[in-house]
Amino acid sequence: MLPDHLQLLEFNAKLKSWYLENHRPLLWRQTTDPYKIWLSEIILQQTRVTQGTPYYEKFLITYPTVFDLAAADERDVLRLWQGLGYYSRARNMHYTARHIVEECEGKFPETSIKLAKLKGLGAYTAAAIASFAFNEAVPAIDGNVYRVMSRLFGIFTDILSSGAKNEFTNLAKQIIPQDDPATYNQAMIEFGALQCVPASPNCSVCPFTYMCYAYEFNMQNKLPVKMKKNAVKNRYFNYFILQKGESLAMHERLKKDIWKGLYDFYLIESLADINNPDDLPEDKFLEDWKQKGQLRQVLKEYTHLLTHQRLTVRFWWITIAENEVVDLPLGMAFYSKNEIEELPKPILMDTVLKEELFL
Ligand code: ADE
Repeated sequence: MLPDHLQLLEFNAKLKSWYLENHRPLLWRQTTDPYKIWLSEIILQQTRVTQGTPYYEKFLITYPTVFDLAAADERDVLRLWQGLGYYSRARNMHYTARHIVEECEGKFPETSIKLAKLKGLGAYTAAAIASFAFNEAVPAIDGNVYRVMSRLFGIFTDILSSGAKNEFTNLAKQIIPQDDPATYNQAMIEFGALQCVPASPNCSVCPFTYMCYAYEFNMQNKLPVKMKKNAVKNRYFNYFILQKGESLAMHERLKKDIWKGLYDFYLIESLADINNPDDLPEDKFLEDWKQKGQLRQVLKEYTHLLTHQRLTVRFWWITIAENEVVDLPLGMAFYSKNEIEELPKPILMDTVLKEELFL
């Protein structure tokens, strides 16, 4: 289990020198600005470093400070976030930027406890900001760190269980040095990302094999213990793209569901995949449009995976004459190609528009 005091000192010294030699010079590691660190951490919860870096750069060019983000239109923020998924993260970020500007004069709280009270910041993000920006000695435990700790110390607690966070945090609090906790946290994350990787870590170059439980008992592939993911719910989406001349009918998704705040087409959800127009459910607008226009099925079936949902999505195209007057469902409007380009949309809408319309 936990090494003694001297071993811990040695561990910290070795970890730091490993980090200084091996770490990637990532952009957010070259700043102590809490806004930039916050942004990087939220993006990295969503994607990997390589995919996340362009988003980080784009955000900082568009919104260089928390004041700029707070003053932005939510729609533009979502548009910039497009492709990262999990759009509530972007909405929370925007909300919290406003809160910081309006309630805290644009200054981030400087302790992990206060940071964790902000909307969208969990214990991990709060600890990451508090240590990287304000040098608080609080451990930031992300998936990488869970892996490193469970292997090193032989912890078999399921990392998704309710008690895991406390157990790992209590242990990590005993390890984190008061001197330069920021580098310690970055180093643990980086060590998990580069050396103590999930599959087939190359232990022959690891500086900690002499004290590693998983190495000693050849349990690298058994640790960390992680519960099976929650069951995935299947959903079936039937989208109807109503085209009139150069314009398409879209609306903002307002319900508390996936993609809230993004724009999509007229949607009928069904309990199973529908491949035949005769099987489409009865629907006032659909009937109207079917009669007025031609209903054309986009042959391709799209599958879209979200964390807890698997969407099977079909698109149907309805072209109506430019002079037809159509009764659109409440909230829907026609948008030109240029306008659509600017709207925040689920990436799937973009894909189908590119494939079908060559937008
Ligand atoms: N993943 C989460 N936070 C990170 C960081 N600060 N650097 C690299 N990868 C990360």
